[in-house]
Amino acid sequence: YKRITVKSLVDMKSNGEKIAMLTAYDYSMAKIVDGAGVDVILVGDSASNVMAGYETTLPITLDQMIYHASGVVRAINRSLVVVDLPFGSYQSDPKEALRSAIRIMKESGAHAVKLEGGKEVKDSIKRILHAGIPVMGHLGLTPQSIYKFGTYTVRAKEEQEAEKLKSDALLLEKIGCFAVVLEKVPAKLAKEVAESLTIPVIGIGAGNGVDGQVLVVHDMLGMTHEFNPRFLRRYADLHAEMTSAFENYTKDVKSKNFPSDEEQY
Ligand code: KIV
Ligand code: NA
Repeated sequence: YKRITVKSLVDMKSNGEKIAMLTAYDYSMAKIVDGAGVDVILVGDSASNVMAGYETTLPITLDQMIYHASGVVRAINRSLVVVDLPFGSYQSDPKEALRSAIRIMKESGAHAVKLEGGKEVKDSIKRILHAGIPVMGHLGLTPQSIYKFGTYTVRAKEEQEAEKLKSDALLLEKIGCFAVVLEKVPAKLAKEVAESLTIPVIGIGAGNGVDGQVLVVHDMLGMTHEFNPRFLRRYADLHAEMTSAFENYTKDVKSKNFPSDEEQY
């Protein structure tokens, strides 16, 4: 295996090779994701939802993100590990943003950070980049701003928001981000953005005109069966698989079928 770097991702874009990215939040999952050849593992703040059960991504802390990320880093051989800066760890000023990014890099061993927003967080991104830490941008639906938006519906359908998204994407490239995530925006707009940038655009609910795709691993495995956005393709039905495994185990314990003679010392 050859380790994926931020440079490999830009090369993949210029060679027309699509980038596969998935989230992971722990050692065991990351080991499987890495072993399967997924290029980028995102330790997303979606851990707040799928790991901790919060309704939004706002409550997860920097310490908790570092805990998730350090398990992921211990598992990987090939994938690039990108960690979300959680809500509240970078918005107040560039120095705090840098401190948070440094903590993630030092304490987890991850390779890059991601944060949400364009022009508003420009100075924070620059400061982090000046310290030599690669930054991935995130535009479109930015879940840390959910209380400003009010809903999780498609973003940038109106001209004004689309124009802001396009100029934010150009800005992120100009200041030195190595990639940008576009979440839940019209496919036509996402394609236009991907074509206007030399850095890769990774989409989630952003169509097939971008340079790569990302999904939340619990969603694509079908563990979160109550979450059904149009963009989600399920590659397994783990909710059903796991439910039947747990039911069968319970049945076997109750009926004294488990453990058998061979399964004891
Ligand atoms: O936190 C997350 O999982 C993300 C992806 C959906 C892009 O930011
Ligand atoms: Na996120």
